[in-house]
Amino acid sequence: MASHDFSFIFYITLFLLFHGNINATYDQVVSPGFSYSGTNDGPGKWGNINPAYVKCRTGKTQSPVDIVVNQAVINKSLTSLSTDYFPVNATLINHKFIIELRLGNAGKFNLNGKDYTLTQMHWHTPSEHRINGVQYGAEAHMVHVAADGSRAVIGILYKIGKADPLVARMQNKLVELANEQGGDIGVGKFNTKKLGRKTRKYYRYVGSLTTPPCIEDINWTILGKVRSISKEQINLLEAPLETTCKTNCRPLQPLNSRHVEMYDELV
Ligand SMILES: *[C@@H]1O[C@H](CO)[C@@H](O)[C@H](O)[C@H]1NC(C)=O
Ligand SMILES: *[C@@H]1O[C@H](CO)[C@@H](O)[C@H](O)[C@H]1NC(C)=O
Ligand SMILES: *[C@@H]1O[C@H](CO)[C@@H](O)[C@H](O)[C@H]1NC(C)=O
Ligand SMILES: *[C@@H]1O[C@H](CO)[C@@H](O)[C@H](O)[C@H]1NC(C)=O
Repeated sequence: MASHDFSFIFYITLFLLFHGNINATYDQVVSPGFSYSGTNDGPGKWGNINPAYVKCRTGKTQSPVDIVVNQAVINKSLTSLSTDYFPVNATLINHKFIIELRLGNAGKFNLNGKDYTLTQMHWHTPSEHRINGVQYGAEAHMVHVAADGSRAVIGILYKIGKADPLVARMQNKLVELANEQGGDIGVGKFNTKKLGRKTRKYYRYVGSLTTPPCIEDINWTILGKVRSISKEQINLLEAPLETTCKTNCRPLQPLNSRHVEMYDELV
């Protein structure tokens, strides 16, 4: 198959993935068709690789961004996060540029009266979003999709330190994933209930997917509480990925006319 066929298959996979259409039949372990460090397919070139990726180049409301805390606008109508997650059978999938933990339907996140279903989570190392210019060791993205197809992502930042219990829960499966050529690996019942609960502080803005096709109108929530992950766990998350994608953080994007809103229980 020619390389453009691979990127087509890849795009179909991404389309289904981010539209919440869960069908494992479509999973393909192929080269992503873009990278994080290649001269011809790195982040600066994503918008030229495929017409479907044009937003990566022309979009004006892209992600990730640097959150400058003293420029964030406190919005009194924001409230503590309302999530209602439950345990589900989860599956690890190696997309070569990212490790996805597919959840299917693991409950909901209510944003301004609208329900978004938690469909999957995945990790970026180091972090994509920064706070006051500080880049953290890792960032998890919890991807939610509403009935009308709109998306909301909750981002969780991790500094390097003690192990993260959630990643610990699937560590041996990550080792398997790195040893296999492909294939999805079931990790059994996975509980995300504790994530996003009792959030005292978060940042909110409208941005994009941080990977091609860089689609916009994504409602971002970055939690103020920084968790911790061990260096060993970061290595496990990176091991199954393509060499040019092990460091899979997209460079910062300009805020342009946007502002970041902030919820802080103490203010
Ligand atoms: C997944 O896709 C295959 C191939 O198109 C189809 O036969 C199958 O019914 C689909 N399964 C689900 C659960 O949508
Ligand atoms: C504050 O938050 C509310 C609820 O999410 C939103 O509708 C409103 O647009 C926000 N206000 C500003 C100034 O961003
Ligand atoms: C969850 O997965 C286990 C084994 O992987 C399987 O035995 C069980 O039936 C699954 N449960 C559901 C509700 O799909
Ligand atoms: C993002 O969420 C806020 C609620 O906090 C809502 O007012 C706004 O319309 C949403 N934007 C998009 C693009 O979904």
